[in-house]
Amino acid sequence: MVISQLKINGFKNLNDISIEPHNRLNILYGDNAQGKTNLVEAIWLCTGVRSFRSTKDKDMIDINGETMSIELKFLDCSREQTVSYRMARPNIKDKSCALNGVKVKAPSKLFGGLSCVVFTPEDLELSKGSPEKRRQFADLSAAQIKNSYRSVSEKYEQVLEQRNMLLKNISLGRSQRDELDVWDIQLAQMGAYISMLRYSYTRKLGAYASRLYSEISGGRERLELCYSSTVFDKLEGRTDYRNDLAPEYLEAIKKGREEDIRFGYTGRGVHRDDLCAYIDGLPARDFASQGQHRSIALVLKLAQANILLEESGEAPVFLLDDVLSELDPSRQEFVISKIDNMQVFITCCDGSIPENKSGKLYRISGGRIVR
Ligand SMILES: Nc1ncnc2c1ncn2[C@@H]1O[C@H](COP(=O)(O)OP(=O)(O)O)[C@@H](O)[C@H]1O
Ligand SMILES: [Mg+2]
Repeated sequence: MVISQLKINGFKNLNDISIEPHNRLNILYGDNAQGKTNLVEAIWLCTGVRSFRSTKDKDMIDINGETMSIELKFLDCSREQTVSYRMARPNIKDKSCALNGVKVKAPSKLFGGLSCVVFTPEDLELSKGSPEKRRQFADLSAAQIKNSYRSVSEKYEQVLEQRNMLLKNISLGRSQRDELDVWDIQLAQMGAYISMLRYSYTRKLGAYASRLYSEISGGRERLELCYSSTVFDKLEGRTDYRNDLAPEYLEAIKKGREEDIRFGYTGRGVHRDDLCAYIDGLPARDFASQGQHRSIALVLKLAQANILLEESGEAPVFLLDDVLSELDPSRQEFVISKIDNMQVFITCCDGSIPENKSGKLYRISGGRIVR
């Protein structure tokens, strides 16, 4: 997949941006706070996924302006497609987005068109940080290869919220215990499906990631990934989520009911699961060094891109925001060599195209591209 054209006006500090990126390497450079990450963020929004910087809607439009628009054209192996993303004050909630000229209901409906892998300094903490970040990573990556997964995991969150509210009302004596039944059945169905998909995604991811990790560590260390479920002891070989996994899931939720009512919170389920990395058998979260955490993050992102390519036949666009400068030269070289076959956008402070590579350089200053 290749972004062939990008136009941005009034998104944060970016204005008059109109570029035709190189189909491999694109380097965005310039001083701090000039708009490099904003540009990467604008591309990311066109994937239909919430900003990796969690920007609020009102902060997307230039504080000195009234409207913002992002227009992006990309090519996959079959055709050219266009994404447009617009907002205007004062109705900032009414985002106007379109895929190939057809208006979509919400930005999230752009998902499934442009596909990107983004890698930011925050991701370097992936194996060290909270399980929530790893679940988000697994969910997004799994959804990229199975579009229907996304709506299930969103629905799960909604049902979970309803159930938690009901739990509180039960403990306050405002609701009855048997009102939980309807929510529990839904949670079990969706939770079973999510467990199965996350498990099988983790297997795929683990296979790629351990190969890459072995390479990056010069064969000295072994990386393993495991899906850690709060519901199932064993997920291997289980594919019948309706008749096999869902009943067991339901059983587990029912067992936890009294405790859940006491805490006002659903204690078990895919919202508490984790994707754990082990190095030479030891849990990375507790034992890995900073360098090992970085290597794990790197190989996870590269594995995500590889799986996308394998499953969809289409390489994602790789967005590297400020990460290279955080890595030592050998890790830098490793990443660059592994994304050689994809279109890449790299932000950094000083711009130069490595010898033996071709690409385009863009200097960003004050939200504009200066030539
Ligand atoms: N809504 C907005 N309107 C105008 N400028 C904004 C808005 N939001 C952020 N900015 C500006 O964007 C700049 C930061 O851009 P960023 O892309 O993070 O910089 P960097 O080049 O360091 O990656 C800051 O100067 C900030 O003031
Ligand atoms: Mg930045």
